[in-house]
Amino acid sequence: MTQNAASQKVALVTGGGQGIGRAICRGLLHQGMIVICADIDLEAADETAELYANLGTIKACSLDVADEPVVQGCIQEIIGEFGRLDVLVNNAGLSTPFNDPIEDLSLEDWQRYLDVNLTGVFLVSKHAVPYLREQQGSIINIASTRAMQSERDTEAYAASKGGVISLTHSLAISLSGEVRVNSISPGWIEVGDWQKSRTRIEPIHSPSDLAQHPVGRIGKPDDVAYMVCYLATDVAGFITGQNFVIDGGMGIKMSYNDS
Ligand SMILES: NC(=O)c1ccc[n+]([C@@H]2O[C@H](COP(=O)([O-])OP(=O)(O)OC[C@H]3O[C@@H](n4cnc5c(N)ncnc54)[C@H](O)[C@@H]3O)[C@@H](O)[C@H]2O)c1
Repeated sequence: MTQNAASQKVALVTGGGQGIGRAICRGLLHQGMIVICADIDLEAADETAELYANLGTIKACSLDVADEPVVQGCIQEIIGEFGRLDVLVNNAGLSTPFNDPIEDLSLEDWQRYLDVNLTGVFLVSKHAVPYLREQQGSIINIASTRAMQSERDTEAYAASKGGVISLTHSLAISLSGEVRVNSISPGWIEVGDWQKSRTRIEPIHSPSDLAQHPVGRIGKPDDVAYMVCYLATDVAGFITGQNFVIDGGMGIKMSYNDS
């Protein structure tokens, strides 16, 4: 039975339990939306929901974005309880970009990156789209600057995030006039102090970590969350199919050696 009879928008944030997703949950609550914080780590999701309960309606749920029946069940639960879905933020992802060197990279490891980071975006979008359509809603996918630039031994992560950017513009065309679809590519965002309390770590950065960024600092989860809030609402109604880089200017730097 629909409890959200009012016009309050409903947002689903995957991987909302920690890191960037936690900041996105808080940002969307500030926008007056009902937020579903869905995470494979229910302890983290519960903690986020408890932390921000004073800001509005936030509900934690357990979700593995790579498991289709579970994804389907989660969307049905949201519709059953709130009656609508307006915003989907596909944020869940495996946090380390590094894999074994290519000769040793197992098919299993490669597949897990694609399953969570790329297939997860497909699955949650697939099951959310019928409801997002009804609300002329918005999908925001969290990709990465690693879709465009690489360090050594990051093939699986980079390929999965490149796929997210392609999936974004493809979906934007398929859902033209119905649902806007955009992606955000963060650079280095410090999330150590945004983990669940049991695993939180105080970040330590060297002066050169900061100085190498043209803006003079490392990114914060809120840097991404503010862009999500903008793209999620009607003020961004003329924007679809785009990828927004939030990297403190790292991607526009020339990197010739001095010598
Ligand atoms: N932090 C960065 O520097 C950075 C840079 C570029 C892109 N990103 C992307 O931003 C997103 C968030 O990353 P973060 O740094 O906040 O990481 P994080 O590890 O702090 O948070 C990721 C959350 O996703 C959850 N998750 C993992 N697998 C899941 C699954 N199968 N189903 C549902 N939830 C799952 C985790 O439990 C965790 O709570 C990821 O997609 C990541 O690739 C992060």
